[in-house]
Amino acid sequence: MAQAHLESSDPRYVPTSIAHDQASRIVEITWTDGHISHFPFIWLRHFTFLPSLGRPDQSGDDWCQLPEEPGAAILGSLMSESSAIAIHWSHDDSTTRHDLVWLRDNCPSAKARLARQPKPNLWAGRDAQDFDWFEAADLDDPVTRFDLFQQVRDYGLALVRNVSVEPGSVMKLAHHFGPVRETHHGTLFDIRSLPQDRQGPRVGIGATASNSQAPHTDEGFRHATLGIMLFHCLKPDPSGGGASMFCDGIAAAEALRDSDPEAFEFLTTTPLIWAAERNPEERFRTRALAIATDGAGVVRGVRVADRTLPPVDLDEDQIEPAYRALRLFFAELYAPNRIFERVLAPGDMAVFDNQRVLHARRAFDREAGERHIQQVSIERDEFHNRFRQLAEQVGRFDLSNWEPDAGALCQS
Ligand SMILES: [Fe+2]
Repeated sequence: MAQAHLESSDPRYVPTSIAHDQASRIVEITWTDGHISHFPFIWLRHFTFLPSLGRPDQSGDDWCQLPEEPGAAILGSLMSESSAIAIHWSHDDSTTRHDLVWLRDNCPSAKARLARQPKPNLWAGRDAQDFDWFEAADLDDPVTRFDLFQQVRDYGLALVRNVSVEPGSVMKLAHHFGPVRETHHGTLFDIRSLPQDRQGPRVGIGATASNSQAPHTDEGFRHATLGIMLFHCLKPDPSGGGASMFCDGIAAAEALRDSDPEAFEFLTTTPLIWAAERNPEERFRTRALAIATDGAGVVRGVRVADRTLPPVDLDEDQIEPAYRALRLFFAELYAPNRIFERVLAPGDMAVFDNQRVLHARRAFDREAGERHIQQVSIERDEFHNRFRQLAEQVGRFDLSNWEPDAGALCQS
């Protein structure tokens, strides 16, 4: 290998040696902490497409600048430029520049890639009793917002108190999280029980009734199911019923992986139909996994509601395994020790990841008086975009913040 010795302005990222080898088409950097990075030529050559740069070099119709064959890249020279290296590629007379910190942060080794992965923190109902509550007035502070976002990213559930009980307040808070998603329900969803003859097009939608509701994720019948939910209590049921419940769907999925690997394998590989056809406005249908895992096999999201699960549409020999797997998964999801239950007080707001955390409700007495919740949802990618902006703003940079996490939309 040809060798070059370079320095970095960041003491964490001082290379002790940099070498390149045309035969294996690898640039090898050894760092002071002993870590060794291997950067394939084609990966380095790709830097003209770095998302933060766009395509500043593009002119005319030279649309594709990647070599036709990955193995065709030829490193002509490697030079030091302050805390970066510059590489001249002789196969197409182009030059790429690489900040050393960026290279170390994006090292493609299996060890480094694993270290960058955010890991969901699994919780049971009693764990959520100890979650710190956020004060609504503190959310104007970006550091507090970052802490709340991190709580939602890592646990899927954050709790806020003392939100104004003026109707519509949740819409005002939502601007911290991203644009509010509009669906056929509109943007703001009022959850208040109504007599059967006044439910209109929402007849059959559990939120307008007063019965108990089993744990579920909302609207899994959409290809891109709902993301981050803001669930704000204006008026609890005066009789003390209608408690809200939340459970960690990822913890339940991981428990299923341990207790019945066959059922877990089925639900992570066999998409099922989810549908809603409850009124003339709803002809929703999608086919999607109940448990979504990423390329490393980590559970990233769930999509599950018994009310929107029609008889499974699968080959005959898959039908009994499907029901067996679903039954076992529901048993994990509904396990009492998994559920965090609380009667929300006026001004309480739960912020939860609908692609991870299931919600439920105890029955209540609709004759006792009005129970009123208002809810909005934010796309998960808008939420994560804001999270990364906040991380930069408050100086809480962590490589795991930059890893994509597609939740229930993961395609492993
Ligand atoms: Fe719901």
